[in-house]
Amino acid sequence: MDRTLIILGIESSCDDTAAAVVRQRPGQRGEILSSVVFGQGDLHAAFGGIVPEIAARAHAEKLDIAVEQALTEADMALSDMDAVAVTAGPGLIGGVLSGVMCAKGIAAGARLPLIGVNHLAGHALTPRLIDGIAFPYLMLLVSGGHCQFLLVRGVDSFLRLGGTIDDAPGEAFDKAARLLGLPQPGGPSVEREARGGEARRFALPRPLLDRPGCDLSFSGLKTALLRARNRLVEAQGGLRHQDRADLCAGFQAAVVDVLAEKSRRALGEYMALGPAEPVFAVAGGVAANKAIRTELETVSQEAGARFLAPPIALCTDNAAMIAWAGIERYRQGGRDDMSLAARPRWPLDSRSPALLGSGRKGAKA
Ligand code: KG4
Ligand code: ZN
Repeated sequence: MDRTLIILGIESSCDDTAAAVVRQRPGQRGEILSSVVFGQGDLHAAFGGIVPEIAARAHAEKLDIAVEQALTEADMALSDMDAVAVTAGPGLIGGVLSGVMCAKGIAAGARLPLIGVNHLAGHALTPRLIDGIAFPYLMLLVSGGHCQFLLVRGVDSFLRLGGTIDDAPGEAFDKAARLLGLPQPGGPSVEREARGGEARRFALPRPLLDRPGCDLSFSGLKTALLRARNRLVEAQGGLRHQDRADLCAGFQAAVVDVLAEKSRRALGEYMALGPAEPVFAVAGGVAANKAIRTELETVSQEAGARFLAPPIALCTDNAAMIAWAGIERYRQGGRDDMSLAARPRWPLDSRSPALLGSGRKGAKA
C-alpha cells in the first residue's frame, strides 16, 4: 500500500497514559505530529511501586483527555485518521483494558480500522520510526519492566536471543536506590551517586557470565548489595556518604559489565547472519544511563555494528511508538476487530520458552 497514512496511537500498559498522532508519507520516515504522555508517578509514590488498581483508574480518567490533546496538537480530527492503534498487551491488565476499550469506542464511533499492537513491538520498531533502518537489526530492551535481546527480522518477526530470568535492570536500580535510601526512580539517583564513587571497593557479582548464552539475571546482584550495605551498617552503625557513592558505583559497574558481555554475545549471533547494514539499537529507560550507553556503543562499534539509541522520550513508554507499529502493521494488511482482547502476557517470540520472574509490568513477556 503506497499512500500517506496517519494513525492515532494509544498506550496505557503500565504507569503512563499516552496518545500520539504519527504520519508516514510513502517511502519516508515517520513524522510524530503529537505525542502526549501523562505520568502517574505522584499517584504511586507513597506505595513504593505501581498499584495496578490505581493505575487502571487513572488511565480510564486520562485516556480521553490524552487523545483529545494529541489530536489538537496535531491540528487534526478523528476523521483525518486512517486507523487507531492501541497497546493490547503485555502489561498490567486493568490499564491495557482501559486503552483497548477506549480504542474500540473511537474505532466504532469514527468508523476507523482498529489495530492491536504488542507493546514490546512498539519499542522494538522505534528505530525504524526515527531512522528508517532496514531489517534485520539487533535490539536490547532495558527498562523497569523489560530486559531482552531481540533479533528484529520483520514487522511481525522477532527472535528472542535472551532475556532476564528474574528482575529487569531498571527494577534492580530502583531496588538498589531503596536499599541505600535514595529517591525514586532509582536509576538516575544511583547514576548521580556513582559519579563520586570507587567501583572497585566492593566485590559485587556479575551474574550468569559463567554460563553461555544471552540470558541475564540481576536479583543476585541486588542481594549482594544488600549484604555489603548490612555489613557496613553493622560495623559502623550506618552509611557514610562515601560508602553510598562506592556502593552505587560498584552496582552500576556490575550492571554495565553484564549488559556489555551479553551484548557482545548477542552481537556475535547477529553478525554471523551477515546483515548488509548492521545496527544495534537500545530502548527503555535504563538506556538513559550514560555509563551503560557509552559501554554499549563501544561494544557495538567493536563488533562492526552502528549503534542507535533513540531520544529518551522515545526510549521510555509513549504512544508514538504504538502509532508507528500500527502504521507498519497496517501497511502489511494487519487489522483487528471488536474481538481484540487485552493480554497480560504476550511474548513477541512465541517459540521462546516463558521466562521466570515477574517485574513491575507483571510476568515478563
Ligand atoms: O522505560 P521506562 O521509563 O519504564 C518502564 O519500565 O517501562 O524505564 C524506567 C526505568 C526505571 O526503573 C528507572 O530507574 C530506569 O528506567 N532508569 C535508569 C536511568 N533512568 C531511568 N536506570 C539507570 N540509569 C538511569 N539514568
Ligand atoms: Zn515499555
